[in-house]
Amino acid sequence: MLVSAKEMLTKAKAGKYAVGQFNINNLEWTKAILLTAEELKSPVILGVSEGAGKYMCGYTTVVGMVNGMINELGITVPVALHLDHGSYEGAKKCIEAGFSSVMFDGSHYPIEENIEKTKELVAICEEKGLSLEAEVGSIGGEEDGVVGAGECADPNECKMIADLGVTMLAAGIGNIHGKYPANWAGLSFETLDAIQQLTGDMPLVLHGGTGIPADMIAKAISLGVSKINVNTECQLAFAAATREYIEAGKDLQGKGFDPRKLLAPGFEAIKATVKEKMELFGSVGKA
Ligand code: 13P
Repeated sequence: MLVSAKEMLTKAKAGKYAVGQFNINNLEWTKAILLTAEELKSPVILGVSEGAGKYMCGYTTVVGMVNGMINELGITVPVALHLDHGSYEGAKKCIEAGFSSVMFDGSHYPIEENIEKTKELVAICEEKGLSLEAEVGSIGGEEDGVVGAGECADPNECKMIADLGVTMLAAGIGNIHGKYPANWAGLSFETLDAIQQLTGDMPLVLHGGTGIPADMIAKAISLGVSKINVNTECQLAFAAATREYIEAGKDLQGKGFDPRKLLAPGFEAIKATVKEKMELFGSVGKA
């Protein structure tokens, strides 16, 4: 059964570790992440962007697939199915479809509008027992043409949003999505510290987990980060393993073209990446 992310993140914040959000793209991704979480007895959050939701034939298809897998694979660890960077409308659709958690990313709105829309979703999520993630200070990425440091959130704005009763808060601290450019300035721990001082027990979310060095991850967790999002790193691992398989000509040997064989190395590569991250985040054995 899917659960809200509230309990797992409250425990993570108190226990000074982080729960990973791993974005899913298809059946192989979902199965790899769920099996790894179960093997390592780690809570896990499956992230679905609006684009990935569309790709997987809509939110109800995703809910059906994830619930079916939890059942058929005998998954016992807490699993939250979470909309990643949702619009206001997308969040409402996911709530209706059966997601257990949603992110409303109102960071591109003026703060007043972000507050207004977040407040409405807080009321809906509270009533249904779902977790809600809000965002302050937009997190850029290579695909948005942003190179260098990501935006840093205003700690006072973070407090305003945190006080609305959201479950977890994503705040820009110089992080960006995708690979970090060589000239990246690193995470702003000063900003993170100031945000935590004002938001107290609120679990903080670190987006753009791909490529952040281990020492920065540890420091971020020590300053209140309890959820870390990883997407690109699983994609890179999957692509590299698939490339290796094909370049070795294995798809041309015997029944190597069978998708169950062709996609197996990529599947294993996702499992290995997720394991590495869960160990780094400290969530192993916390389910
Ligand atoms: P990366 O793709 O950089 O790992 O970021 C993932 C993320 O933050 C999803 O919201």
